Amino acid sequence: MKVLVTGGAGYIGSHTCLALLAQGHEVVVFDNFSNSKPEVLRRLEQISGTAIACVEGDVCDHSALHQVFSAHNFDAVIHFAGLKAVGESTANPLKYYEVNVCGSRILTEVMLAHQVHCVVFSSSATVYGTPKSVPINESFALYPANPYGHTKAMVETILRDTAAAHTALSAVLLRYFNPAGAHPSGLIGEDPKGIPNNLMPFIAQVAVGKREHLAVFGDDYPTCDGTGVRDYIHVMDLAEGHVAALEQLSRQPGSHVYNLGTGCGYSVLQMLQAFEKACGKTIPYQVQARRDGDIAEYWADPGKAERELGWRAERDVAQMAADTWRWQSNNPEGF
Ligand code: NAD
Ligand code: UFG
Repeated sequence: MKVLVTGGAGYIGSHTCLALLAQGHEVVVFDNFSNSKPEVLRRLEQISGTAIACVEGDVCDHSALHQVFSAHNFDAVIHFAGLKAVGESTANPLKYYEVNVCGSRILTEVMLAHQVHCVVFSSSATVYGTPKSVPINESFALYPANPYGHTKAMVETILRDTAAAHTALSAVLLRYFNPAGAHPSGLIGEDPKGIPNNLMPFIAQVAVGKREHLAVFGDDYPTCDGTGVRDYIHVMDLAEGHVAALEQLSRQPGSHVYNLGTGCGYSVLQMLQAFEKACGKTIPYQVQARRDGDIAEYWADPGKAERELGWRAERDVAQMAADTWRWQSNNPEGF
């Protein structure tokens, strides 16, 4: 298949490009580099030995999208492009509704105009809000608790409604749990701008000496050791989940939603220990107050993806830590 990958220079998009190429698919990246660098493309070419077409553009720009769809005959789109910082979404909600919701609406319109009928969308476990129980399955009610989460739930609705109205359109909505890790080459990985919001890149920056210590946000949750518990999924497993979803679209039209997680929860301190093992150093930490809006614990029921997509996560937290460390220690300043 020839696949347009919006946001393909970003963390998850770049790993997915490699998974697509490994299965013989062709990719065209569309990215405005607002949260990534063109160097990513060079690294992808180095790893894959394949030239990668890339168009610099914004998903909110109708005419730029029309141009790229006119220049290529796409079979499908994987839509990663968007903004993802929960705190920033609360401070600047209109920016998030514009890029995430309007960008997705415009992309869907342009896809239909060019008769491209398959889309895989990056949703998030954040759409569930605080779950009534764990593990979380896809039939749980959605209670997004911040503007970022609302944008993901809205785009899911837009795609579901549009697939119902245009029966040729197929949409797979993938709700990611907590992506971590990097490609085993150590050439690509997560490269956050400024202070990392997420646990794994923060630990990696402490390990490499860029930050003094990890702040553990609360140790008084009702969890195994008092710290927050999440379902961390290796980014290469996540990437392969997209390829499985894409291949299912051609077999089963309509709209489909899947959790992509491992089904296992790990605490902040367990992730810290896994990282210490991987890098062979002690990582200093200080316990601080809980972070506003954080949930004690959640993990996925990934059974539906396994049954219907024939996909399940294979890599463990030791591998996530080892691959993150290889990327971070080889590229202390990122790309
Ligand atoms: P990322 O920021 O690394 O990648 C997003 C890419 O999209 C970047 O390359 C950025 O430059 C590009 N982009 C942003 N706005 C754009 C625009 N208007 N037009 C074109 N390109 C644009 O983020 P990521 O971690 O790779 O996440 C990818 C997707 O997965 C996002 O939609 C995110 O919301 C979703 N997601 C991420 C996580 C996570 O923890 N990383 C969890 C759940 C869902
Ligand atoms: N944590 C710390 N210190 C840090 C960062 C995080 O103790 O410096 C803790 C958090 O309190 C939480 C756990 O580590 O218990 C994971 O936090 P992350 O910020 O890495 O991840 P979240 O589960 O809060 O959220 C992430 C993304 C969301 C996405 C969600 C589900 O940021 O956008 O996973 O996919 F929606």
